[in-house]
Amino acid sequence: MRMVDIIAKKRDGGELSTEEIRFLVTGYTDGSIPDYQMSAWAMAVLFRGMTARETGDLTLAMAGSGEQLDLSSLPGMKVDKHSTGGVGDKITLVVAPLVAAAGIPVAKMSGRGLGYSGGTIDKLESFTGFQVERSREQFLQQVRDIGVSVIGQSGNLTPADKKLYALRDVTATVEAVPLIASSIMSKKIAAGADAILLDVKVGKGAFMKSLEQAETLARAMVEIGSQVGRKTVAVISDMNQPLGFAVGNALEVKEAIETLAGKGPEDLTELALAIGSRMLVLGGLVSSVEEGRQKLLEIIASGKAVDKLAEMVEAQGGVKDEVYSPEKLPQAQILHAILAKEDGYVAEIDAEAIGHASVVLGAGRQTKDMPIDLAVGIVLHKKRGDQVTAGEPLATIHANQETLLRSALEAMQDAFLIAQQPPEKQALIYKIVE
Ligand code: URA
Repeated sequence: MRMVDIIAKKRDGGELSTEEIRFLVTGYTDGSIPDYQMSAWAMAVLFRGMTARETGDLTLAMAGSGEQLDLSSLPGMKVDKHSTGGVGDKITLVVAPLVAAAGIPVAKMSGRGLGYSGGTIDKLESFTGFQVERSREQFLQQVRDIGVSVIGQSGNLTPADKKLYALRDVTATVEAVPLIASSIMSKKIAAGADAILLDVKVGKGAFMKSLEQAETLARAMVEIGSQVGRKTVAVISDMNQPLGFAVGNALEVKEAIETLAGKGPEDLTELALAIGSRMLVLGGLVSSVEEGRQKLLEIIASGKAVDKLAEMVEAQGGVKDEVYSPEKLPQAQILHAILAKEDGYVAEIDAEAIGHASVVLGAGRQTKDMPIDLAVGIVLHKKRGDQVTAGEPLATIHANQETLLRSALEAMQDAFLIAQQPPEKQALIYKIVE
């Protein structure tokens, strides 16, 4: 088999065989296929696309390119969850302990922040001493003991995807839907999931800017799931404005704790219930989304959801007391309110601008290995549709350096759009694809 023939076949719109796809993934992982040939192939895929069968084969080949996690020693269906990334998206911090408290084992690998969208692993490090690097045995034993563990991604999972993603990033081929879908799904499969719940974000603060794009991606991933025998459901949710009020690591952890205690923002609570209840259905614990929702509401009301987070923090070396006294989490020294300049209604909150401002403050990385400031970020006081009067605070910036505060103010100077009429209602969940 020759890579040049595979490139030509795809260039001319042909369908690659399972063997050809395995050949290119294996060859690229072991270095026998060079970057320039893989780039030419990725560009051919961008223009010609892939069939569902080819996409399923690519996913499985990438999932099998490195270590795979075997979760079979854990009881029941293992349901994983993945978000395509957004601003203020702390859903995993809420849903992992919540679903675990309901009885579904959660053995989850999460990522660090990427660009202006935050990462669960960075957020969890807001707890003093919290360990995100665990051995396989520690990880699985913790799930057996308390039902939940969230750790960082292992270096040996899906090396083919790691290499291909980095290549796509610099060859203008990130946007190819079959490549995005197989990249995400290969990581979930390698992490051992039996069933997968995807939160596909759409809007200004998301990777997918239009509902049509988001739905195409969601359908591609659900189709891969059915091709490879992993039941997959996608929730397409709004990312035009940040989720909840808090953006920034420790600030988001505090908000997640409030949500687990039943006192969280409405949009965050609703999305967590929508995602969590579907995870319970996928895990076979309940037979309907409504039943799942009721169960989760009962768990929240009983205090068991907060307790489960505290158990997880303690089991991973963190200070459990910080869950019950979140004021002990890292706090920024400078608080600066952004005030409304006029009366009216909040017509838009630009999630991307808020995300950028939080990175500028130090909540995210501007270079790969940069340390982050866990305390800083932005807390909104108003959401889209809320009425405001001139002089009322729209948001508070939590900063640790005056110069960074000024840069953040600049980054978000046009983030709030105030209009004289209330904006049309915008959905939180646009569609469920299954
Ligand atoms: N996220 C991924 O993991 N892979 C992609 O290709 C795009 C987003």
